Amino acid sequence: MPQQSRIVVVGAGTMGATLARLMASRDMSVTLLDIDRARLASCREAMSDDDVPSSQLDFTSDWQAVGNVSVVIESVTEDLDLKRRVLAEAERHVPAEALVMTNTSGLSIDALGQSMAHPERFVGAHFFNPADVVPAVEVVPGRLTHAATVEQTCRLLRRLGKRPAVLNKSVPGFVANRIQHALMRECLALLEQGVVEAEALDDIVRYSIGVRLAINGPLRQRDLNGLDTHLNIARYLYSDLEDRHTPSPLLETYVAEGRLGRKSGRGFFEWPADTAEAQSRQERELLVRLLALLEESASN
Ligand SMILES: NC(=O)c1ccc[n+]([C@@H]2O[C@H](COP(=O)([O-])OP(=O)(O)OC[C@H]3O[C@@H](n4cnc5c(N)ncnc54)[C@H](O)[C@@H]3O)[C@@H](O)[C@H]2O)c1
Repeated sequence: MPQQSRIVVVGAGTMGATLARLMASRDMSVTLLDIDRARLASCREAMSDDDVPSSQLDFTSDWQAVGNVSVVIESVTEDLDLKRRVLAEAERHVPAEALVMTNTSGLSIDALGQSMAHPERFVGAHFFNPADVVPAVEVVPGRLTHAATVEQTCRLLRRLGKRPAVLNKSVPGFVANRIQHALMRECLALLEQGVVEAEALDDIVRYSIGVRLAINGPLRQRDLNGLDTHLNIARYLYSDLEDRHTPSPLLETYVAEGRLGRKSGRGFFEWPADTAEAQSRQERELLVRLLALLEESASN
């Protein structure tokens, strides 16, 4: 890809805004496109406060205004029909050889690409929040995605300082969300059954499997522990684990009551509005420090 080709990020929400900031800070020309003009205006204002080079960034609601595009990153609301419409519109405005990615958290790449004219250049690129800090990106080909598309995507991601991890095929939730939801299904069941309080549960996970997972990943960690021991425990434990096929009633109740987490002031815990910003800044700083440590140890 030529150095100054234009990337269009569609959707200026939580993820799109950070993706645009990341790319502009890496000297790439980016257009952030959203139907919500107020959202675009607040992104423009937020980014003018940062040290993002403004010459690299454009904001628009109009596909006609985006010019010569080599990469599209679709990052609109997680809704299959909406994403299909957005992808169809993108295809009407970009050259047939442009790379088209979706930042879906786990919708089927084949279903999203079903009515695309050129599904061979379409691929999942699942970033994690905050996208300018977290290194991993799941790269998910559909059945019709060309190998060259996957390679081109990985090259672009490496230029962004990311760690692309390629899946062999698209499954719902990809890898990260499948694992996250399996973990949360069990956490919610433990709360519902009154086995443990929320604070203690987080403490156990953070200071035991949490820190070790960051260092080793689940499979390396099991190798270190011994697969025979894991099997012995799996034999008696699996029949007791939560295996429900619908979301937990506790989660349904919390959401129905408006307990959405930090953004509404209450979730499993209380989130006073006056500490929210400091808390999210601290979380970001910790992430950066932890990742620097991991990188340092990997290079030793
Ligand atoms: N938030 C996360 O932690 C996270 C992490 C990884 C991936 N994702 C995925 O990224 C995508 C975006 O998530 P988000 O959290 O940024 O959502 P969000 O709700 O914050 O933002 C979505 C944006 O899409 C815009 N939009 C809707 N319809 C549009 C259209 N037709 N054209 C242009 N823009 C349109 C909305 O105006 C909004 O600004 C989703 O697919 C989500 O699953 C989210």
